[in-house]
Amino acid sequence: MGRDRDSMFFLVLSLVLLGEFFSSCSCAQVYVVYMGKGLQGTSDDRHDMLRLHQQMLTAVHDGSLINWMHGFSLEKAEASYIYSYSNGFQGFAAKLNKQQALKLADMPGVISVFPNAKRSLHTTHSWDFMGLSVDTAAEVPELSSKNQENVIIGFIDTGIWPESPSFRDHGMSPVPTRWRGKCQRGEANSPSNFTCNRKIIGGRYYLRGYQTEENSPSKSAIKFISPRDSSGHGSHTASIAAGRFVRNMNYRGLGTGGGRGGAPMARIAAYKTCWDSGCYDADILAAFDDAISDGVDIISVSLGPDYPQGGYFTDAISIGSFHATSNGILVISSAGNAGRQGSATNLAPWMLTVAAGTTDRSFASYIRLANGTFIMGESLSTYHMHTSVKTISASEANAGYFTPYQSSFCLDSSLNRTKVRGKILICHHTKGSSDSRVSKSMVVKEAGALGMILIDEMEDHVANHFTLPGTVVGKTPGDKILSYINSTRLSTKYCS
Ligand SMILES: *[C@@H]1O[C@H](CO)[C@@H](O)[C@H](O)[C@H]1NC(C)=O
Ligand SMILES: *[C@@H]1O[C@H](CO)[C@@H](O)[C@H](O)[C@H]1NC(C)=O
Ligand SMILES: *[C@@H]1O[C@H](CO)[C@@H](O)[C@H](O)[C@H]1NC(C)=O
Ligand SMILES: *[C@@H]1O[C@H](CO)[C@@H](O)[C@H](O)[C@H]1NC(C)=O
Repeated sequence: MGRDRDSMFFLVLSLVLLGEFFSSCSCAQVYVVYMGKGLQGTSDDRHDMLRLHQQMLTAVHDGSLINWMHGFSLEKAEASYIYSYSNGFQGFAAKLNKQQALKLADMPGVISVFPNAKRSLHTTHSWDFMGLSVDTAAEVPELSSKNQENVIIGFIDTGIWPESPSFRDHGMSPVPTRWRGKCQRGEANSPSNFTCNRKIIGGRYYLRGYQTEENSPSKSAIKFISPRDSSGHGSHTASIAAGRFVRNMNYRGLGTGGGRGGAPMARIAAYKTCWDSGCYDADILAAFDDAISDGVDIISVSLGPDYPQGGYFTDAISIGSFHATSNGILVISSAGNAGRQGSATNLAPWMLTVAAGTTDRSFASYIRLANGTFIMGESLSTYHMHTSVKTISASEANAGYFTPYQSSFCLDSSLNRTKVRGKILICHHTKGSSDSRVSKSMVVKEAGALGMILIDEMEDHVANHFTLPGTVVGKTPGDKILSYINSTRLSTKYCS
C-alpha cells in the first residue's frame, strides 16, 4: 500500500503546489517542506537526511550553487531552520519567504511545500452510545482486561495534567519494554514540572512552530513550557479515551456521577502541540514523527483545519496520519464541532474519523415570563434570581456611535450603562460573531446588567458558564420573548 500511495502523492504534487498557497504572503513565514516517505533506517541515514535538509535550506537562502558550496549562507539557513522530520517520513520546517518556498518546491524529492497553518481544537463525548456505559460501576473486568495495558495511545493535543485522578497508575504493570518514548520534564524551577507514571508513559512538547508564528510571545506568556496541559482539552480527550474510573465527579454540582474512559487500563503518551491560540502544522508533524518512532499503537487527534478542508498534501494531519498508518498505527480523529452540512474535516481515507451528534444532554435553566410561562434555555450558571427584573433588548441600549443593530450583539463598549443598569439584557449571537458567548456575558455584566438572555441563532445547544445569571435560547423561543416584552413591557425573571 505504501508504495502506491507514495506514487499517488507524486502525481498530484505539481497540481496542488503552486496555485493559491503562495499568493497571500511575500513576507517570511514558516513553511513545511514535505518529502514523502524517504529513506528510513540507520542513524547514519538520519544524519545524511539532516544534512540534506540543511543543504536545501542553504541553497535557497543564497540562490547560487557556488555560494552554497562555499557555505556563505549557512548561518541564515540555520537561523531559519525549525524542525527536521526523519522518523516516520521526511521533510523539514523553516522560516522562508515566498520565493524561497517556490524554489524548494522545485527541488528534486520535494512533494509539497505549504504554509504552517493553524488548526483548532475539537471535543465531544460518546461512550454510552457505544455500550461502554460509564454508569456500570468501575473498570468493567471484561472491558478492562490486562490486554489494554499493552495498548499505547498517543494524544496530539494540549498536553495533560499528570496529577489528575483519571491518570493514576495504581494496579498497573510496568511500562512495556518496547516503549521508546520520552518524558520531557519542562523548564526547571517553573510550575511546568511534569512527571510520568505507569499510566502516562510519555510526554513531549512542541513549541517552535507556534512561537515562530506568534511572533515569539514571551516565554512567561506561554503557559507551562512542558507537556503540562493549561487549557484542559488534552486531559479531557485523554480521559475520555483512557481515563481511570473516578467517583463523585461534577461541575459546580452539575453532571454528578462517576466517570471513566473507554479503555481505562490503556497507556497514555501526551504530545503537546496546541497552545493558547491553537496548533500549528510544523509542530503537529513533529509530534507525528516522534509518535511513530516512540512506538504508539493508536494516535488520537481531536483537532483539525477549518472547513472546507484543503488538499491532503498541505495538511499536517493528513500527511502525518498517512505515515503513521503506513507504520501500522491507527489514527483516530474528530470530524469537527461545527455540525453543519459540509463542515466535516480530517477526511483523509487512511484515518478513522469520528463524527459526533449534538450533545446528548442539556443543562436546562428557565426564564419565567411575568404572565407565568416558563421558557427553557441552557446554562451552566448556577445562580438564582429571586425577584422579577425588567428585561430589555440590547438594541434599545445602544451607546455612542453603535447602531441598535450592532448593540443587539452586546459587543464590547456598545452598551449604554444608564439604560442597562439593573436589567436583564437580551443579546444576539450569530455565526459571524467575532466574540464568544462567554465574553458577551462579561460585557453585559460590566455594563451593570443583572442578567442576560442570549439568543443563539446557531442553535448549538451547548451550555456555557456565564459570569452572571444568564441562559442561551434558540431563535424561536428568543423571538417569543422579544415579542412578549415588546407587547407587554412587563418583566421576566431568571430561574436556574
Ligand atoms: C508541579 O506543578 C503543579 C502545577 O503548578 C503543582 O500542582 C505541583 O504541586 C508541582 N509539583 C511539584 C513536585 O513541584
Ligand atoms: C445613555 O443613555 C442616557 C439616557 O437615555 C443618555 O442621556 C446618554 O446620552 C446615553 N449615553 C451614551 C454614551 O449614549
Ligand atoms: C416591537 O413593537 C414595535 C411597535 O409596536 C414594532 O415595530 C417592532 O417590530 C416590534 N419588535 C419586535 C421584536 O417584535
Ligand atoms: C405568556 O406569553 C407568552 C409569549 O407571548 C405566550 O406564548 C403564552 O401563551 C402566554 N401565557 C399566558 C398564560 O398567557
